[in-house]
Amino acid sequence: MSKITAAITGVSGYVPEYVLTNKELETMVETNDEWITTRTGIKERRILKGEGKGTSHIAVPAVLDLLKKTNTKPEEVDLLICATTTPDMVFPATANLITAEVGAVNAFGYDLQAACSGFLYALATGSKFVESGQYKKVIVVGADKMSSIIDYTDRATCIIFGDGGGAVMLEPNTEGLGIQDSILKSDGTGAQFLHMKAGGSRKPATIETVQAREHYAFQEGQQVFKFAVKGMADVSAEIMERNNLTGEDVAWLVPHQANKRIIEATANRMGLDNDKVMLNIHKYGNTTSGTIPLCLWEYENQLKKGDNVILAAFGGGFTWGSIYLKWAYDPN
Ligand code: UT7
Repeated sequence: MSKITAAITGVSGYVPEYVLTNKELETMVETNDEWITTRTGIKERRILKGEGKGTSHIAVPAVLDLLKKTNTKPEEVDLLICATTTPDMVFPATANLITAEVGAVNAFGYDLQAACSGFLYALATGSKFVESGQYKKVIVVGADKMSSIIDYTDRATCIIFGDGGGAVMLEPNTEGLGIQDSILKSDGTGAQFLHMKAGGSRKPATIETVQAREHYAFQEGQQVFKFAVKGMADVSAEIMERNNLTGEDVAWLVPHQANKRIIEATANRMGLDNDKVMLNIHKYGNTTSGTIPLCLWEYENQLKKGDNVILAAFGGGFTWGSIYLKWAYDPN
């Protein structure tokens, strides 16, 4: 019997309608379009507006479209993993809210939190369920409503993040396509540089924590930048080396979209030209777990069966990693 690999057989995404431009940010904090564009590459980001709307409201439209595109009945789904740092609630898992909403009544679901590397961790995890032969249809979601934890008086963080997400379908493949290899890493000593101070079990929410603005993402940008440039480039080079890939062999780099300068450093280290690098940071900013599936969704029509694709991310935790996959289908 030929070996079972886990292949992406469809991808979809969703971004909220509201566009928060650099120009509008100029009216909110002391910043300017030129600074944001040259330091990050971001021009605008999307914001989910509306009372009672959470990350599941980003994930559900993406999953419904994915089911349609892949001709899948919701009851056929075995498992849904949702990578998110901004769950609708502390519990239950956002994955459960999504499966209920889309009618995936036979699926089990859980959330996975690895900040900006969440989608990579979830994809690697989901692929193991498929490779085992036990599960046939696994949906991996990466989605975040970052605006729910961003302080719009802090210019160091509010210019970077946005809301959005995407989903992929994983199915068994016997042609050797799909996920080939993954390298996942984490280092908790990096927690000090990127975290949320209150709202967890160490420091539950009180009037004082709210007044001290401790329910927002805290980031020491320069420190994170330093580790991110090295981490993302190193891990991408490592996965190429151990799979005997040169820059010529790689069709696409799909990098986490945190800062255009980090992406360029990674591509450079891999020996890739810019036209092989998926980029949409200018439109959506950093959507945390959402960036990689949003890129795949937007570039789907340019991906061809057999393409060697490297996904790479670095984020809070610290967490980082890369996945090497062979794309499994041609554009429609
Ligand atoms: O995805 C999760 C992982 N996160 C990341 O990968 C993010 C990594 N970090 C970064 O992308 C960058 O560090 C930032 C974009 C967050 C900041 O860029 P930077 O080039 O590291 O700027 P900086 O923090 O070193 O600040 C440089 C200067 C400072 O002014 P002085 O001290 O030189 O006078 C800041 O006060 O820029 C100032 N500054 C701003 N000016 C205008 C900081 N934020 C802004 C702003 N607008 N929004």
